[in-house]
Amino acid sequence: MGNFLAGKVVAVTGAGRGIGRAVALAAAAEGARVVVNDYGVSVEGASPTSEVAEAVVKEIEAAGGEAVAVADDISTMAGGQRVVDVALSSYGRIDGVVCVAGILRERMLFNMTEDEWDPVIATHLKGTFTVFRAAAAVMRKQGAGTLIGFTSGNHQGSVSQANYSAAKGGIISLVRSAALGLNRYGVTANAVAPVARTRMSAGVPMELTEIGEPEDVAALVVYLLSDGAREQGITGQVYTVAGPKIAVWAQPRELRSAYAVGGWTPERVAEVLPGVVGVDPMPLLERVREMRRAAASGERPNAQ
Ligand SMILES: NC(=O)c1ccc[n+]([C@@H]2O[C@H](COP(=O)([O-])OP(=O)(O)OC[C@H]3O[C@@H](n4cnc5c(N)ncnc54)[C@H](O)[C@@H]3O)[C@@H](O)[C@H]2O)c1
Repeated sequence: MGNFLAGKVVAVTGAGRGIGRAVALAAAAEGARVVVNDYGVSVEGASPTSEVAEAVVKEIEAAGGEAVAVADDISTMAGGQRVVDVALSSYGRIDGVVCVAGILRERMLFNMTEDEWDPVIATHLKGTFTVFRAAAAVMRKQGAGTLIGFTSGNHQGSVSQANYSAAKGGIISLVRSAALGLNRYGVTANAVAPVARTRMSAGVPMELTEIGEPEDVAALVVYLLSDGAREQGITGQVYTVAGPKIAVWAQPRELRSAYAVGGWTPERVAEVLPGVVGVDPMPLLERVREMRRAAASGERPNAQ
């Protein structure tokens, strides 16, 4: 056992499988007492069972750690609150929350139903809000705490997962808002965009050229939860971790601007927008075109 998280209490959602499970095991191995939350559902979010969270608690205990299971659905306010309440009732405090829980309902935008949109947004985006909300209220009083959301490289856009992409973009804005709003209370917030072999990534219809294991992601998360990361002032950041690679994403910023004296008209916009303000090329659009060319010629396309 290491001691990166000695004495800390950490709650992890979606901790029954894949990346969340690796984060929960690693946090416990580094000395944290862990709330293992998992609703125990299929990739699409169906057929809940409490056995999935309980199994990870047993694994942590077998390795000499301390953990407690919460099998609630974090897409509800009550579920998010319970994750934090169980940390407080079991261990008396909450130092970090890691919102990993997620589902997929893939469909092209023109065919997507409300039943494919709502649960994906609810699980990822609202499911991060419910836990952040409950934890932030406690961390504000403690004067310390770490919030970690899970996003995806797909926050840049996705051909057939507009619901998932929108949720993941929303999580980045939620994390930045938490970083801004809670900075004065000593609370940090960051987002992780993983690429790791799990049941979720197994369904991706292309070769992922940069991919690693859930344990690679867990190592980054353990560091972000540690006092070391807090002392470095790391907050409001988005990190990709893909096997041996860790990368930081840029903060959004305006690239070029133009001003109209006397106000804009469509004619003035037409004069200024294409040349002066211009566009910022969308790398994913070119990659999607390449993938379509590759697919048309019968190859299995590559994607990062
Ligand atoms: N695996 C990757 O390469 C990859 C890439 C980008 C982003 N992500 C993100 O990382 C996170 C983990 O993904 P994974 O690959 O480990 O997936 P996974 O399917 O292996 O695990 C997700 C877990 O979340 C749980 N869950 C789902 N809905 C829940 C709810 N409402 N309440 C509580 N638990 C719930 C599931 O039961 C499951 O155990 C997700 O947010 C995913 O979007 C993963």
